[in-house]
Amino acid sequence: MQQAGRRVLFLETDVSHTENVAQACQQAEKKMGPIDILVNNAGIARSNTMININEADWDAVVDVNLKGIYNTCQALVPGMMERGYGRVVNLSSIAGRRGSLFGDVHYSAAKAGVIGFTKCLARIAGPKGVLCNAVAPGIVKTEILSPEHEAQSQANIPLGRTGRAEEIAAVILFLCAPMSSYITGMVVDVNGGSYM
Ligand SMILES: NC(=O)c1ccc[n+]([C@@H]2O[C@H](COP(=O)([O-])OP(=O)(O)OC[C@H]3O[C@@H](n4cnc5c(N)ncnc54)[C@H](O)[C@@H]3O)[C@@H](O)[C@H]2O)c1
Repeated sequence: MQQAGRRVLFLETDVSHTENVAQACQQAEKKMGPIDILVNNAGIARSNTMININEADWDAVVDVNLKGIYNTCQALVPGMMERGYGRVVNLSSIAGRRGSLFGDVHYSAAKAGVIGFTKCLARIAGPKGVLCNAVAPGIVKTEILSPEHEAQSQANIPLGRTGRAEEIAAVILFLCAPMSSYITGMVVDVNGGSYM
């Protein structure tokens, strides 16, 4: 990216820690200038079925997938609203739309929570020029996807294959670009037809 003439800054932080996120956002804005686009992509899955999910896993999954979005939005969206422009894209999941097929109620609950958060923030921030949408991927070939879950999902995908990360990124890019200027509070399903 730097070779293409872009200014790039990498900062590592745990999105579930409110204070750390606030500091990282402050540092980023100090070095790079105001942030107008926020993509909340961080997520974890601790697959297990309802009766076996322990409290630590419940907390971790909800804290990273849902509280993480609250943390970053609280740090960055007020500035976007003041400046009258911003784009927020939150990663939900097909699990938050139809319920996970694998019993992980913590992940489904967190990802459904992301949708409620997105719609509410869209109402708050829309009048100030900040658009907020969610993307709900289906089964996508990345680190988070176990081979067992990938195999179990195939029969439910009309397009007959696992998705690629670029196919999710393309939709996120669209929601960050000027051409999506009249879309807010929406959930875009990107899942090969598994949930319609
Ligand atoms: N791959 C899929 O099948 C699928 C399906 C639906 C939704 N999603 C969602 O898409 C998003 C991207 O996931 P992915 O598929 O690229 O998986 P991934 O595991 O490859 O990427 C997840 C990223 O989140 C980061 N992360 C995890 N915990 C963090 C924390 N506490 N603080 C900061 N960063 C943290 C990881 O370092 C990693 O870079 C996630 O929100 C995931 O829940 C993925």
